[in-house]
Amino acid sequence: MEKFVINGGRALDGDVAISGAKNAAVAIIPAVVLCDEPCRIENIPNISDVTLIGRILQEMGAEVKRINKSTLYIDPKGIETTSATSDLVRGMRASYYLLGALLGRSHSARVCLPGGCNFGARPIDLHLKGFAAMGARHELVNGAIIDVHSDYRLKGNHIYLDFASVGATINIMLAAVKAEGQTIIENAAKEPHIVDLANFLNSMGAQIRGAGTDTIKIRGVDFLHGVSYSIIPDQIEAGTYMCAAAATRGRVLVKNVTPKHLESITAKLREIGCEIKEFDEAVLVDATKRPLTRCNVKTMPHPGFPTDCQPQFAVLLTTVEGTSIINESVWDNRYQYVSELTLMGAHISVEGRLAIIEGGSRLSAAPVKASDLRAGAAMIIAGLCADGTTEVSSIQYIERGYEDIVEKLTNLGADIRKVYYEDHSGENSLRA
Ligand code: EPZ
Repeated sequence: MEKFVINGGRALDGDVAISGAKNAAVAIIPAVVLCDEPCRIENIPNISDVTLIGRILQEMGAEVKRINKSTLYIDPKGIETTSATSDLVRGMRASYYLLGALLGRSHSARVCLPGGCNFGARPIDLHLKGFAAMGARHELVNGAIIDVHSDYRLKGNHIYLDFASVGATINIMLAAVKAEGQTIIENAAKEPHIVDLANFLNSMGAQIRGAGTDTIKIRGVDFLHGVSYSIIPDQIEAGTYMCAAAATRGRVLVKNVTPKHLESITAKLREIGCEIKEFDEAVLVDATKRPLTRCNVKTMPHPGFPTDCQPQFAVLLTTVEGTSIINESVWDNRYQYVSELTLMGAHISVEGRLAIIEGGSRLSAAPVKASDLRAGAAMIIAGLCADGTTEVSSIQYIERGYEDIVEKLTNLGADIRKVYYEDHSGENSLRA
């Protein structure tokens, strides 16, 4: 077993280079299944989710080679199956993008229900509604496998999403790229990784217009040629380091970013008193100039404040005097980290989708665990702020989405290291 051991109480100071976007990579890699030639994808983050989706494509018959730490070569020619039902597939949520990619490639797909972070219901009804509108029927097999099929090439249609779902927007886009005619997605998600996927597909010869707006129009094509493509920087990794800089009252230059993708995070940090300077491909977060003040925040689909930075921002608000309120409007249960944070002395009460934070008292070190990817990042930020030695376990969640997090934080002056240990928690454990 592995855990992070953090000696907190130090302000972060220095530069950090942001890696490629996880949520773009886990959509673009499955999208190669649609291509008729090999592709080279650059600025790929070296994280376990990327390794996993690459292994899944290999299992399906694709050739996947890591050219270097951040570049993959993928040749989908060898894929003959329309199924992805192994245990590997069950291990990550983004594997469901194979539904859209396989439907787009051969109007048939059989993929096991996805895993991924568990914070409330994670239905895929909107994805299936889109597939049905294009002529594909679905069936749940043994409660574990989704089988989506059309006897003919999918037909474009006009699809309205009840919620601006990232996954549904991506999956419908993938299914529509080679469908007959035009598909229109209304109330589409506008996250940066949606635009990045559309740009990737268009560079292969797809005809997608409007990505990044509420309405995306896709005109089906017959052939997609191979490309070399570089993935956008990770908006959420950047937001995580911005929150860490503010929470420790430090001064950090966050490099290799697209400042426009960070506008909602920058606005909130400025609102509580951080000084933020924006450069072409970097933002400087300076929380050394004045005391920070409380605020309220509501998570929203992009361009609103990203739900994937909610736990990290909550930790920051525990360090700020006063009562702050978080409204998590995207997920119905994304406060599982609060019980861990309470062990460190935080005063937070959760009422449905609201978290009421009584901030100002210093956090104290404790052994805590990561309940999901972003909650794990939040626990690390809490450890960086707390006096004493904090241990964060279940770090496999964190390593799904944060490349070289120990090295990057150490370069910012943090005292953090990864430690291997025997897990005897099953023996006479006081905490279930
Ligand atoms: C993506 O999840 C991200 N995952 C999540 O990031 C992120 O939190 C989420 O988008 C919102 O930005 C990946 O990109 C791999 P949604 P996704 O479909 O696509 C409801 C991380 O930390 N909904 O936008 O699953 C759903 O229940 C991860 O990197 C339906 O009701 O999110 C939720 O309440 C965690 N029916 C809301 O929409 C559907 O068919 C948002 O879901 C689909 C979604």
